[in-house]
Amino acid sequence: MILNGRLVPACLVLAPEADGQTITTIEGIADGERLHPLQEKFLGHAALQCGICTPGFIVAAKALLDANPSPTEEETRYWLAGNLCRCTGYDKIIRAVLDAAAEMCNSQLSSLNSQAPLNSQTLSTIHSRVES
Ligand code: FES
Repeated sequence: MILNGRLVPACLVLAPEADGQTITTIEGIADGERLHPLQEKFLGHAALQCGICTPGFIVAAKALLDANPSPTEEETRYWLAGNLCRCTGYDKIIRAVLDAAAEMCNSQLSSLNSQAPLNSQTLSTIHSRVES
């Protein structure tokens, strides 16, 4: 789960420690009926595991994208290395996370383009993040 913006293993946090804190679990990832891009991409890539693994990967991936909106494959694999699944490979999960990151960056770019004009340095920075 994400506790005060930090990814933590939910099984190691006692309820009294979480009292009054800001917590995000899988139930808080979607926006009402609208799935988060990570959830959409996990479905699209068939990157689905059991009811324990899938929420854990999605919440961990959200924490990654919150901290690093455009991670490399290596950064993604390293970040998710603590989510152990005994059942499957990780390639579909990694592809889903990278695809969601690209979509979210492109969405932000489109949103920025429709708002105030950006200077060339800002645009260059954004484009380099999207392309990496
Ligand atoms: S799918 Fe949950 S342990 Fe592998």
